Amino acid sequence: MSDPSEVVYGDLTFTDTHPALTSAIAALRGLHTPAVEHARILELGCGTGFNLLAIAESLPSATCTGIDLSPSHIRRASETATAIGARNVEFHCLSIADYHPPANSFDYIIAHGLYSWVPPAIRESILSLIRHALAPNGVAYVSYNTLPGWHVRSIIRDGLRFFSHTPSPRRSFDLLAQSLLTPNSIYAQALNAEWADVNQQPDYYLAHEYLVPNCEPFYFSAFNAAAAAHGLQFLAEARFFTNSFAQNENTLAHLDRPGDDLIRREQHLDWLVGRYFRQSLLCHAEIPLLDDPDQSTILDRTIALTAESSDDPFTQQVIDQLAPVTVLPAAELDLPGPLLVPLLWNGWRAELWQVRTDTPAIQPGAALSPLARLQAAAGPTYTNPLHRPQKIGVRH
Ligand SMILES: C[S@@+](CC[C@H](N)C(=O)[O-])C[C@H]1O[C@@H](n2cnc3c(N)ncnc32)[C@H](O)[C@@H]1O
Repeated sequence: MSDPSEVVYGDLTFTDTHPALTSAIAALRGLHTPAVEHARILELGCGTGFNLLAIAESLPSATCTGIDLSPSHIRRASETATAIGARNVEFHCLSIADYHPPANSFDYIIAHGLYSWVPPAIRESILSLIRHALAPNGVAYVSYNTLPGWHVRSIIRDGLRFFSHTPSPRRSFDLLAQSLLTPNSIYAQALNAEWADVNQQPDYYLAHEYLVPNCEPFYFSAFNAAAAAHGLQFLAEARFFTNSFAQNENTLAHLDRPGDDLIRREQHLDWLVGRYFRQSLLCHAEIPLLDDPDQSTILDRTIALTAESSDDPFTQQVIDQLAPVTVLPAAELDLPGPLLVPLLWNGWRAELWQVRTDTPAIQPGAALSPLARLQAAAGPTYTNPLHRPQKIGVRH
């Protein structure tokens, strides 16, 4: 097959990268980030730009900059920006290693699907760029593949690369998976379970995730050490329910005791769940952070509904209050104060709603945004105002 790095990536958006969500998580640890509405946002390795374009559309007074090495990705990003009339976003075709913005020039920096997939020197460039360009109270999002979960996935990667000289590494590997000589072995079971999942993915994803020359998973503790060497520290995970501090009682009982080092607790959790992917938030190392998250900050946030119902009657009361309007300041919810914070915390963990620092403009039945119209025309999903993929014809 041809060079996998040259396969054009999909037009994807990633909910957890949105600054209105990452800033709400940062506040739990006492970091008060710049207001997202006027933020300066940088996306590194932005691919075809759809994630940044959707963020730019949702925050029209923010200024957004996207960087990518691939001319075809940046061409598609710039053409799409023109097609949808986006005025607050610009794209540049260059390597992160050659990008030298002024110090403190971005409030939020996003690097999704990049850190594990570039050579070691570029990984260093990513972290030193974040340290240099991130505002003193800014937040950086970095996703990467993690161990121990990726040990199993590595079998698939190595196998696909073994067949990279064939016209279709996917078909060759599939044939192998069906012909294993010891089908009851642990090897065969692990390989088949993992392959059933990976084989669902589109060709461009297989090319960029599994077939490219660089794809390195890290233990969380190693990633954290690399960040620390660049004057950065771990804030939290961008997907709320995956944080060690957001676990239920059952999981907490297995983790190191509260008060123990957060980094160790996070690493311990990865061992418990066999984690293979992280979306870590970083900030400057000098910032004093709370060890125990301040749950009461939820009361200053906007709650944006993402679920339709709950078995729990109190939770259903919240859903009923949100349902007609979809977004509401938490303080305006009509429930007794002592109940509200734990209820909002648990619903956040169950992904019944988002907790945001902005108030997205959502009117039920409103026309789709220009980017969403373009996505809807290509189908089968578009990015809704909560930065979530939405099936065409289904309400927000
Ligand atoms: C796996 S794709 C991810 C794209 C997008 N962020 C996403 O997650 O959908 C990795 C992207 O990083 C870009 N890239 C790789 N090395 C780079 C570098 N040194 N500087 C800038 N971009 C780079 C590639 O061109 C590609 O678009």
